[in-house]
Amino acid sequence: MTARPALPPRLLRDLRAAAGDEHVIDDPELLASYEVDWTRRFTGRAAAVVRPGSTDEVAEVLSACNHAGVPLVPQGGNTGLVGGSVPRNGEVVLSLARLAGLEAVDPVAAQVTAGAGVTITQLQEHAAAAGLQYPVDLASRDSATVGGTIATNAGGIRVLRYGATRARLSGVEAVLADGSTVSRMSGLTKDNTGYELPQLFAGSEGTLAVVTRARLQLAPATPARATALLAMDDTDAALAVLQRVRPLLAGILDAAEAFFHEGVELVCRHTGIQPPFAESPGCYLLIECAAQSDPSTTLAEALAQCPEVRDSAFAVDAPSRRALWRYREAHTESINAEGIPHKLDVTLPLPALPEFEATVRDRVRAAVPAARPILFGHLGDGNLHVNILGPEPGDDRATDAVLRLVASKGGSISAEHGIGIAKAPWLHLTRSAADIAAMQALKRALDPAGILNPGVIFGASREMPGATGHNKTA
Ligand code: MLT
Ligand code: ZN
Repeated sequence: MTARPALPPRLLRDLRAAAGDEHVIDDPELLASYEVDWTRRFTGRAAAVVRPGSTDEVAEVLSACNHAGVPLVPQGGNTGLVGGSVPRNGEVVLSLARLAGLEAVDPVAAQVTAGAGVTITQLQEHAAAAGLQYPVDLASRDSATVGGTIATNAGGIRVLRYGATRARLSGVEAVLADGSTVSRMSGLTKDNTGYELPQLFAGSEGTLAVVTRARLQLAPATPARATALLAMDDTDAALAVLQRVRPLLAGILDAAEAFFHEGVELVCRHTGIQPPFAESPGCYLLIECAAQSDPSTTLAEALAQCPEVRDSAFAVDAPSRRALWRYREAHTESINAEGIPHKLDVTLPLPALPEFEATVRDRVRAAVPAARPILFGHLGDGNLHVNILGPEPGDDRATDAVLRLVASKGGSISAEHGIGIAKAPWLHLTRSAADIAAMQALKRALDPAGILNPGVIFGASREMPGATGHNKTA
């Protein structure tokens, strides 16, 4: 771990004037929780943490840092998985947690305005109280925030029906690197007035602007749910089932998730729950339908058309459904309990996915013989999470093998987690030189001093004055 650099005294004074003394933290003990990511793989030193309480305060903080040439790392719930929300090199951590305002739901437009620090659970509960839903949903919902999920264009378990975060974005308020504020919060459905900045900021991982508030599109509530956990021979069979049931479940298919023996074994060991089936199948497929009225008959009838289903468990009431989801959602915590994972979040064209799934474990072990690959993911989106236990945090041989395999099959090296610093060295695998140059031109135009999340997406973090090094993987 590198030494902690001190901020220029004038900047420290400016940050305190902007956010208030009590919201500028430089006590090393209090900084610790901001300096390590959820997986513990990425860690570094922060010069300080600043916690502004309004868009205007964020603007003052950015203006001061831009003037001083001191970089910032924006941080929401710190649930990111690619090292993009923790300091690397003595940056200032800009915590958006205090931007927790949640306005009344507009029932006519089915929209709501939320601060960047609102958690997804808070937003979901707020929408539900108004008889609507916020349909972006992910296992980290209790900590992940509106701002963080916009910055990463988070996906989650319902993308196949509702799209990723970007599809929910009616507008944003955001502060640019120089401290100026752009606001597109009118919530208009049609507004072709120049470049669509909210969409540009979605997925920009805090490198182009800091989102402080968002206008979000809600969806009608779907209180009735039915969930089936299916045992399949392999991923080919799971995809065949998905293909067959999709038209039969049109408009009510909410999730189609896949996982495998290695993950269920780990989940059962870690949580103490029993395996769902007497025999472990080649592939588990979890399907959920949601509607205004009970979708269980439609789901059961659709599954009755599928000879590929070897065994099944069906749930309608909330506790039983939660019990089935536990096999899927406990993957992340169970893997983390076992060690510090390398987390590779990739998408494949659906026809290429079965062969990828059948091959990738061998590729991982060929690169690092002691490595333990654990796969799960959002089958409906062609999105697999390749988790690798075993290699040291800084050993990228297995990562390299997996990402090259993905690229060779026409996939993407990031489906929903972003590039962060974890995958920056492989950006060129699935983005052309012209593509990268265009993205870098945008970055230079909006952040000429390079103060916003340096090193993220493009790599090569710039040195901060006074810093003594860069610690990518601790
Ligand atoms: C998930 O699908 O559960 C999330 O992407 C988290 C993870 O990949 O561990
Ligand atoms: Zn996921």
